[in-house]
Amino acid sequence: MEISKSTRSGIGMPLVGFGTYQLSVDQAEFCVNEALKVGFKHIDSAEGYNNEEGTGKGIKAAGIPRDDIFVTTKLFPGYKPWAAPEKTYKQTIETLKNQLRQLQLDYVDLYLIHAPLSELRLEQWNALAELKKSGLTKHIGVSNYNEEKLREIFDADLPKPEANQVEFHPICAQTDLTRYMKENSIAPIAYSSLAPLSTWRAEEGQGGEVLAEIKEECQLVTNEIAAKLEVSEAKLLLRWGLQHGYCVLTKSSKPERIRENLNLFDFEIPENDMERLNRLNQNQAIAWAADGLNPMEAAPPLK
Ligand SMILES: NC(=O)c1ccc[n+]([C@@H]2O[C@H](COP(=O)([O-])OP(=O)(O)OC[C@H]3O[C@@H](n4cnc5c(N)ncnc54)[C@H](OP(=O)(O)O)[C@@H]3O)[C@@H](O)[C@H]2O)c1
Repeated sequence: MEISKSTRSGIGMPLVGFGTYQLSVDQAEFCVNEALKVGFKHIDSAEGYNNEEGTGKGIKAAGIPRDDIFVTTKLFPGYKPWAAPEKTYKQTIETLKNQLRQLQLDYVDLYLIHAPLSELRLEQWNALAELKKSGLTKHIGVSNYNEEKLREIFDADLPKPEANQVEFHPICAQTDLTRYMKENSIAPIAYSSLAPLSTWRAEEGQGGEVLAEIKEECQLVTNEIAAKLEVSEAKLLLRWGLQHGYCVLTKSSKPERIRENLNLFDFEIPENDMERLNRLNQNQAIAWAADGLNPMEAAPPLK
């Protein structure tokens, strides 16, 4: 498929979204506003990022008509090992209403279960279906769901997830899951596309040092291809996600990087370089590894 700036996924989602993980409330306000000013039309938020008040202020200050932007947010489902209570149907409904107040919005475009961390995930999914019916979200989906967890929803004869947001970069290429999502018309959204960068989440406590050896191997290849194509490694990694049919999310606290990361439509990765990058796959998730957690595997099976 030809991809351009105006291309959107099947659910009308702009292909490049601005992510808000690891931003303080004040940073979220500034960066979301900056992102919308430079042309992002898609913002990715979450209850768990504890900054939705800032994101809401940033959206409001940009003054863009509501219909022109696509806003995603996520339910934190609860997780017993972290002593975070698992949300019931009713609490799930209340959570989105509260998030909308923080975001100063009447509806979101996409509401996701952040990860299959709760045994109540089908009950939570039922609540998302109700939230869609009531118009508080236009679309519903999941995040960090593997094929088995997606099948649970299909087997329960419930409405199908319209999107699945997963870690996706050359080290974690999710080949089988990507195929499964395509077969089932589930829009794929990539997060932590930049995880192979040596500078990724460079501050202490952000997990950037995790699996450094695997990343070094990947960087030799990304360095070489990026230099040849005369683009930054960040742009190369984001464009790789786009050429695999994913929407990509990108977060930065720095205005010049915010701008750079949106500009992905002035070059193309040739097929042979795509293949070299594809060969780096180790199906190794990195983003949550610092927490010792693979969110796609964490929850126990439903009885
Ligand atoms: N569903 C989930 O479980 C989940 C998990 C993780 C992320 N997400 C979503 O996906 C978004 C993106 O993922 P992410 O935040 O993990 O990681 P990312 O966007 O892949 O990388 C962010 C890191 O890369 C740096 N960076 C950004 N642009 C750069 C550039 N052009 N050159 C060099 N470094 C650059 C940033 O530092 P500076 O800020 O210093 O620029 C930051 O440390 C998140 O913000 C969030 O919305 C979802």
